[in-house]
This record gives sequence, C-alpha cells and structure tokens, in this order.
Amino acid sequence: MAEPVAWGADGVPHNARFGDIYHSESGAVAQARHVFLGGCGLPEAWAGQPQWRILETGFGLGLSFLTSWQAWRIDPQRPRLLHFVSIEAYPVAREDLLRAAAAHPELASLAAELAAQWWGLLPGFHRLVFEGGRVLLTLCIGDVLPMLRAQHRFEADSIFLDGFSPQSNPQMWSAETLKAVARFARRGTRLATWSVARAVRDALAPSGFQLRKAAGLPPKRDCLQGVFEPSWPLRQRGPDAALVSSPGRCAVVGAGLAGAAVAASLARRGWQVLVLEAGAGPAAGASGLPAGVLAPHVSPDDALLSRLTRAGVRATWQEALTLLLEGTDWRASGVLERRGADTARLPQGWSAEGPNESWHASAEQLRQAGLPADAVGLWHARGGWVRPARLVEAWLDHPGIRVRTGCRVAHIEAPAQAGGPWLLRDAEGELLAEADRIVIAAGHESPALAPMMPLQPVRGQLAWGRMAADMCLPQMPVNGDGHLIAHVPDPGGPLWLTGATFDRDNAEASLRSDDTESNRQRLARLHPDAARQLASQFERGELQSWAGVRCASSDRRPLVGPLVPDEPGGIWLCTAMGSRGLSFAALCAELLAARWHGEPLPLPAAQARALDAQRGLAGRRGKASSATDGMEAVTAKQDNSP
Ligand SMILES: Cc1cc2nc3c(=O)[nH]c(=O)nc-3n(C[C@H](O)[C@H](O)[C@H](O)COP(=O)(O)OP(=O)(O)OC[C@H]3O[C@@H](n4cnc5c(N)ncnc54)[C@H](O)[C@@H]3O)c2cc1C
Ligand SMILES: C[S@@+](CC[C@H](N)C(=O)[O-])C[C@H]1O[C@@H](n2cnc3c(N)ncnc32)[C@H](O)[C@@H]1O
Repeated sequence: MAEPVAWGADGVPHNARFGDIYHSESGAVAQARHVFLGGCGLPEAWAGQPQWRILETGFGLGLSFLTSWQAWRIDPQRPRLLHFVSIEAYPVAREDLLRAAAAHPELASLAAELAAQWWGLLPGFHRLVFEGGRVLLTLCIGDVLPMLRAQHRFEADSIFLDGFSPQSNPQMWSAETLKAVARFARRGTRLATWSVARAVRDALAPSGFQLRKAAGLPPKRDCLQGVFEPSWPLRQRGPDAALVSSPGRCAVVGAGLAGAAVAASLARRGWQVLVLEAGAGPAAGASGLPAGVLAPHVSPDDALLSRLTRAGVRATWQEALTLLLEGTDWRASGVLERRGADTARLPQGWSAEGPNESWHASAEQLRQAGLPADAVGLWHARGGWVRPARLVEAWLDHPGIRVRTGCRVAHIEAPAQAGGPWLLRDAEGELLAEADRIVIAAGHESPALAPMMPLQPVRGQLAWGRMAADMCLPQMPVNGDGHLIAHVPDPGGPLWLTGATFDRDNAEASLRSDDTESNRQRLARLHPDAARQLASQFERGELQSWAGVRCASSDRRPLVGPLVPDEPGGIWLCTAMGSRGLSFAALCAELLAARWHGEPLPLPAAQARALDAQRGLAGRRGKASSATDGMEAVTAKQDNSP
C-alpha cells in the first residue's frame, strides 16, 4: 500500500510513520529552490555541462525533483542530460504527488508526467524517462543504506539530503548513511540540506565535506551547504577505459531492435552514429517479426530474469508511448499469460492491489480472452503487442544517426596508432566506416565478428493471417506455451499471428511447412477456441508464415559490454536478446550508454553485472569473475540484490 499522507488544513503534508511534515509551511518548492538548488549553486553550476547528476535521499512528494526538472527546462544553458537519482523507502500515492504539486502551476504539467509513470514501484530500481530521454529519474525504492550500496558508483554533481528530522528519522542521517552518500562525491561536489543538526555536520565533515551554515528559509534560521574538498589525497581509481570524455563517432553493426536502440541512446547523448546493416533495410533480421509480445517474466521467487524483464518492459513502454502510435504500431492492451494450475504462482505479497503490475487473471479476464473455463493464468497490466520494425524505424529517425543498408561488415581493424579510429571493412576489404567505438548488435550473426562469444542461434517460425469479419479473437495477446496476437491493424485488414517454433542451433530462416503444423497444434493447446476459428485458414493454407533467427546466451540474458575486457575503449557487444528483444533492447542500450558516460545505471550494479558480456567467457575460462572496467562478472546464483 502507498504511504499515507495526512494533509493539514494549512495544506502542509504530514507523515504519521515519522510524526513529521514533508515540508514546512513556506512550501517545498521554495525550500527546493532556496535550500537544495540554491545550496548547490544551481542552475548556474550546470550551465554548459554535458550532463548533471543529482543524488537525493528522500523522494517524498517529488517536489525537489520537479523543481530541478523545471529549472533545467527553462534554462537555455541546461546540460544535455539531467540525471536525478532518488531513494525512497515509502512511496506515496499518485494522488498525493499531484496534490503536492497542485499549488505550483509551473509544475503542474511536469507533475502529471511524473504521475503517469508512477506505477509498478516495487522495491528496487525504476528508471523514469522524461523529455525524450534527456531527464532521467532513477527511483530506488527501499531503505536508504542498502539502496546506496546497490548503486554502481557514479560521480554525483549535487547531493540533496532530505530525510525527515534526524530525531524522528535517524537512519537517513546516520554516520553510516552519510559515509555511503560521500562515496558518490567527486572533488567539488556540492551538498545541501535543511538540517544543521550537530550530528549531521559531525558525520559529514570527516567524510571530506567542507561545511557552512547559510541563511535558511523561514521558519528555519539556517540551512547547511557543503563542498566535497577533502584535505587528504583521494584514492586514485584506475583509469576507466570504458569511459569517454566526450561523444564521438560510433559504428553500430546491425539495424535490428538492439542496434537501433543503441544508436538512439548514443545519439541522444551527442554521438554521431553510423548504423551498418547487411540487409536491404532496417529490421531485416529477427526484428522483422510482424508483431511481438511485450510482457515481463514472472516467477514466485522474483528471479533475476523477472527483475530484468520488468525493468526492460518499463523502458520499452516509455519509448513506445513517446515514439509510436498506440493502436497502430503497438497496443497497451495488457497480456494474458496462460499457465498450468501449479505454475501460476506469484512472489509473496503480490496482489491486484499491490504495486506489482502482474497478478492472477480473474475469471472474467480469462473469459474475455476466450480461454476455457478451467484455464488459469496471469494478467500483465503492462504488456501488449508491438510491431518491432516500427520501433526500429522510430529509433533510427534522429539527426545524429545515419543508416547504410546492404552493407555487411566482415572485418574490424584496431587503430593503427593510439587514439586513431577503428576501421570496419567488408569481405572484399573495402573500407565501410571509421569510428571511435563500435557496437556489434548483429543478432545471431554476431559470432562472425565476435567468435569467442558463447551465442546460440535459435530458429523460430510463426503463422499469420487476416481476421475474417465474424471472428472473435482476444483483444489482448495470450501467451504461455506459444502466443496468439490478434486485431493488429494492417492496410489489408486486421491480422492474427501465432507461434512460435523454437529450434536451437538452427540458423535457417527459410519457411517449413511442418512448422506451420506445429504452430497449429501449439495454438490448439494454448487457445482451443482460436484454433477452431482459424482451422479452415490452416487447412486451406490461407495464411502466411514468417521465420527468423533469435540469438540466445546460455542463461537467457542479453550480453552488454566490451568484447575484450582489457580493451573497453573499442568494440562493445549488445546482443543475445533471445525471445525478448522487445523487453530488453531499450534497457540494454541505456545501460551501454550509461557505462560509456559514467552515468547512474538504470539497474542496480549487480543486475548490470549480470548482463555483462564477459560473464559467459569467465565461466568458460573456469574463473568466478573477471574484471571489466569495474564491472565484475557474476552468475545468477550470486545475485541476491534488489
Ligand atoms: C519467431 C519469432 C518470434 C519472436 N517473438 C517475439 C516476441 O513476441 N517478443 C519479443 O520480445 N521478441 C520476440 N522474438 C525475438 C526478437 O525478434 C529478437 O529478440 C530481436 O528481434 C533481436 O533483435 P536484434 O537486433 O538483437 O537482432 P536482429 O533483429 O536479428 O538484428 C541483427 C541485424 O544485424 C544485421 N547483421 C548481421 N550481421 C551483420 C554484419 N556483419 N554487418 C551488418 N549487419 C549485420 C542483420 O541483417 C540484422 O538486421 C521472436 C523471434 C522470433 C524468431
Ligand atoms: C522530507 S521527505 C522528502 C521530501 C522530498 N524531497 C520532496 O521533494 O517532496 C523525507 C522522505 O524520506 C523518506 N525516508 C525516510 N526514511 C527513509 C529510509 N530509511 N530510507 C529511504 N527513505 C526514507 C520518507 O518516506 C520521506 O518520503
């Protein structure tokens, strides 16, 4: 349940758990401007910077975030990217966010955008995306100390400390918490808080903050400002070769979901991206799928794959909302996942009322989906279908991206001298491109350029056809063992699609008639009523087939990271999307770009490591881990983090 907020007659919000107010009667926005932004020298300090990273303890009603975003928005000198990372153990209800902002007309539209993304806030990290990806809010839901420790370290430019009063809320101000906060400071990082409590100052000073009291906002006499300027030399971290000092030229090999998403994430950060595609057009490989299902993986123990797909669905959802036409290019219909009675289990505590977006499908939902009376299943409220090629097209439509089709990369040459460009050549040795960085996103053909990577081709075929006027197929995708998607608008009439076959170690994309039969049988098991309605189309061959080849890793997780750990400044990999390109591509692209720029990651550090490209190789070499620009390889079993 959301944290209750009691609104006083004077409009001041009160929290019963801590017996304290969220902000004083002079208002949170005035406090945010004076104490937090002003205390950190903002907006002046970020003028002309490529990025700015704010770390906040205590998201509360989100007013410091909204005020920072609004200051960014109206500032002609604003940085290209604003990161706001905030930790909150007790998220409030959407209505309270809106109510808190209602008194500030300048924040109203921003609050509405925040409220629209205020869903699914289970414990863990959630990346909320605004301004087409230029304002990124990483909400870390959980207790402050473990959430700080779960972060991959990034350099915060400003730190806002905003717990309830230290007396009522000691964890937020403990020496341990403030030491963990200081881990994110670089020399010059500025810190601000309304609390001038002795204990807070005594905890911050030994961590390296030079502190001073400044005039507070009435009724507070003082507030506190700090600069991270330790008198001792800082421990030198090894140079992180994965980091770039500024955006340059990147060549992306492959214009499928993975390559297009990477191109978009990099172009947004100022890269000049050239996408090289062997096919006649973008989405020539597995991403040419006519329509696919977007839905999270759900498991009773909320396994790593479940958490990753949940983060991935959120990332794609936001991209689809911003870039695609709902009802035409994708549909936010929800997805019904048919399960066996013994496997329809959810993590403890999940319910239709909880912050989780998947729950047991009701009898009415199962009936509406046209499933038999004894069927059981899960309902994924954040799910639907997407036409992947439309998403690819939208991602590639950016002034910083050029696409060259009919162009197969056969060789990659390292720079002849340090600092020189990498060269990409075709099979005849013809130079195709020069680049500072390369990303291989060539799906199942990636091993041609990355032979050491343990990747497996998995052929798949599906059947599709046009819906007759009298057909009654489900409005939402039904998945389980296979899937059925219907009502996909198309100029020739709405489509249905069903599949898909799954042939490991098979890279053959030509069509097979026995696969059509196995798709018919799979549909009969998944959705007998649809199979009955489509029987004559199957019998008379009044349908089409489509086949593609997935690229899978042995643990079903994508590979995102440098190809050679000792050379993270050169070739990177972003592939192995398996059967979940729609869930993974946007998330993996943001992860890759964040790693290049030393930004806050969209995932906890352990989950990001679980996607690192080197993990498969570490296992092969018989090592438990291998260092790759500060990201160690992990196995699924080692990861117990949020
Ligand atoms: C039958 C089937 C059903 C599926 N259903 C779903 C679904 O419902 N939901 C879902 O999320 N996912 C689904 N998937 C998986 C999804 O299609 C993939 O995960 C996704 O498309 C992978 O994207 P990608 O960019 O990694 O690879 P691809 O789309 O294969 O892109 C790789 C691109 O690289 C190009 N290329 C390769 N080598 C070179 C080279 N040397 N030089 C230049 N270009 C090169 C290729 O031409 C290709 O365009 C399905 C897959 C199949 C086969
Ligand atoms: C004063 S409010 C923050 C106000 C907020 N910055 C704003 O702009 O609206 C303090 C917040 O800290 C949160 N909090 C308290 N203890 C916490 C803890 N141990 N871990 C994480 N968050 C905590 C509270 O739930 C509350 O939302």
